[in-house]
Amino acid sequence: MKTIIITVFIGLFIFSSCSITTNGMTEEDKFIEDLLARMNLQEKIGQLNQHTSQWEMTGPAPNAKNTQDLLEDIKNGRVGSMLNVVGAEATLNAQKIAVENSRLGIPLIFGYDVIHGQKTMFPIPLAEAASWNPDLAVLSSSIAAKEAAANGLHWTFAPMVDVGRDARWGRVMEGAGEDAYLTTAFSLARVQGFQGDDLSNENTIAACAKHFAGYAFSESGRDYNVVEIGGESLHNVVLPPFKALAESGVATFMNAFNTIDGMPATASSYLQRDLLKGEWGYDGFVVSDWNSIGEIMIHGAAADLKECAFRAITAGSDMDMEATAYIKYLEELVMEGKVDVKLIDDAVRRILRIKYRLGLFEDPYKYSNIDREKANIYTGEHKSASRKVARESMVLLKNEGNLLPITSSVKSIAVIGPLADDNDSPLGNWRAQAIPNSAVSMLSGIKAAADGIKINYAEGCKLATAGRAFPTHLTINNTDKSGFSAAVNAAKKSELVLLAIGEDAFMSGEGRSQTDITLRGLQQELFDAIYKVNKNIVVVLMNGRPLVIPEIAEKAPAILEAWHGGTEAGHAIADVVFGKYNPSGKLPMTFPLNVGQIPIYYNYKNTGRPDTGNPEDNLWSSYTDAPNTPLYPFGFGLSYTTFEYSDIKVSSSEISKGETLQVSVNVSNTGTVDGEEVVQLYICDKAATYARPLKELKGFQKVSIKAGGTENITFKLSDKELGYYFPNGKYVLEPGGFRVYVGGSSEVKHSVNFSLK
Ligand code: NOJ
Repeated sequence: MKTIIITVFIGLFIFSSCSITTNGMTEEDKFIEDLLARMNLQEKIGQLNQHTSQWEMTGPAPNAKNTQDLLEDIKNGRVGSMLNVVGAEATLNAQKIAVENSRLGIPLIFGYDVIHGQKTMFPIPLAEAASWNPDLAVLSSSIAAKEAAANGLHWTFAPMVDVGRDARWGRVMEGAGEDAYLTTAFSLARVQGFQGDDLSNENTIAACAKHFAGYAFSESGRDYNVVEIGGESLHNVVLPPFKALAESGVATFMNAFNTIDGMPATASSYLQRDLLKGEWGYDGFVVSDWNSIGEIMIHGAAADLKECAFRAITAGSDMDMEATAYIKYLEELVMEGKVDVKLIDDAVRRILRIKYRLGLFEDPYKYSNIDREKANIYTGEHKSASRKVARESMVLLKNEGNLLPITSSVKSIAVIGPLADDNDSPLGNWRAQAIPNSAVSMLSGIKAAADGIKINYAEGCKLATAGRAFPTHLTINNTDKSGFSAAVNAAKKSELVLLAIGEDAFMSGEGRSQTDITLRGLQQELFDAIYKVNKNIVVVLMNGRPLVIPEIAEKAPAILEAWHGGTEAGHAIADVVFGKYNPSGKLPMTFPLNVGQIPIYYNYKNTGRPDTGNPEDNLWSSYTDAPNTPLYPFGFGLSYTTFEYSDIKVSSSEISKGETLQVSVNVSNTGTVDGEEVVQLYICDKAATYARPLKELKGFQKVSIKAGGTENITFKLSDKELGYYFPNGKYVLEPGGFRVYVGGSSEVKHSVNFSLK
């Protein structure tokens, strides 16, 4: 059986996917059509069915199959894909059953959440976006792909391209922050890293744009909650990264748990059929989210699982992850004439297409290679790449009196905090196959770099006392201060304090919504106790989302946002605090002053009564108890040097549609050390049919400038940047006046005007 199937497959694969056969079809289409013609209805439906392994569950799975039944189903052609089967050997064994024991030998596609690394962990995606260097995302994703592919995997459920404006929603750690333009740039980079230029390469894997759509807009930041979003925000904020990925050839999409204006995203024909597969011409497949087909009923939009299956397949959800709705009911629905078999054929074609592009029909076992698995994972090269990405992802939020970098005159440092010697939290949530407790902690990194400096370590307090692992809930330590006195003593006898506080790995991520994103537990109290004895505190934040830290921001002279920085986090922190690397990150998400300001984001609209800044003016759009402005704005971040902007110019004060405007600026490094600056360009469409934001990011460049040097930076603006979507999804380019800003943060003030004829 095996020999015959492989021979047939190889015979069909001697041409590339684009080559045209004599009847005008591509080889790929011909292969798929031939195979489809040989499939019976049950086998077709089997391709649409995805099961989890029992070894790892990434969602609630009360109906998960036992391994024996699952293997039987694979043999009977009732499974097209599996998730959470990892390892060359495990995937090889399951694949053999599909290829050698099922009637048509169609290989399985193995998916897994490879979000920021497979075994070598990179900074969480939100952190990586803070580098504003998409090349780093290409690097980290290509390494993640190489390791995942060596682990037998074909497909990652990443990148998450949800634009998130609500830091209470724990999944902001998985995305690129609050802005559609930045998210698009990072998402494209991630897909490029995962998929490379050739999906059939043994070191690349298929990517997945998720969660389509609106998931990050869950009401009140509560995960899985409903989404009420108008057409204007949907088309201008939520959808652009998805559209860009669909057009760039991302292999798959995943739909979302949420309803969107009442419609479960998984049952939305508008999103999946009209937009994605219609207008955007997408030819990959859509996988549901975990049981999101079954949840259509729980939302109250289907009477039973059968109706869920009907609604999802009709709406264009091609593969059923874990709901078992398709495998149970699609055949019946076809027999009853309720579902046209053409819909099923379309979904099958899409899935076979991605399997074909991965080269699985040519060699279904090529990813499951035990030798490659030994050689390609967790290598020194991968770890040093992780360190490079981690240090470039950090954001210097405050540096009074140039406390950083630590100079050679400093001879004693206190390293304190619940996260200071934590070698697990830097691995972050969604950590795939990371080895628990395998990260370089801040303490280890500092010790390794601190030649001749006395290090006085004290934990101070524990952050959580139990339940760190997925999926149990955290028990925050609010009472045990027994470590305070050691911490205070360490601070007393040291010239400077490095205080690591924030969130542990599992305080953000899926299902980690919080109503309170201030420092949890005793961390603020610990800071206050140390501050009484030593004011030279560098707060090193480790967290998966923006935090509300007004007191720290006021008192601590220096704050470094280090996020959950991955396997090499401690070394990367040492690189930054000792000045081996000059920080260059900028925030991809606004840090609110208090939780009540949420959702808070830089690209807001003016309102009819914009804030005057005067607290007496209470009939204006402002709060009576706090300012409108955040603690730290989007795009903000300091360096050990300073940059000045001058001579912002536009190539013309007026352009016509179809023309390109050049915007240039001089950026000078006015300090004494070399540094990198993220030069950001924002536009404002001053008078449009629909009110536009006061600022919208439309370009950025990260440039390295020598101390004392000046660089002239040029941007191009065209129809692509100057138009916007009406709420009905129509893209328009409206004549009129624009303002263009170029600077080092979203709070840039200097602008020039031009108009579009
Ligand atoms: C649910 C999550 O929402 C999704 O992002 C993930 O890929 C699946 N579970 C599979 O683990």
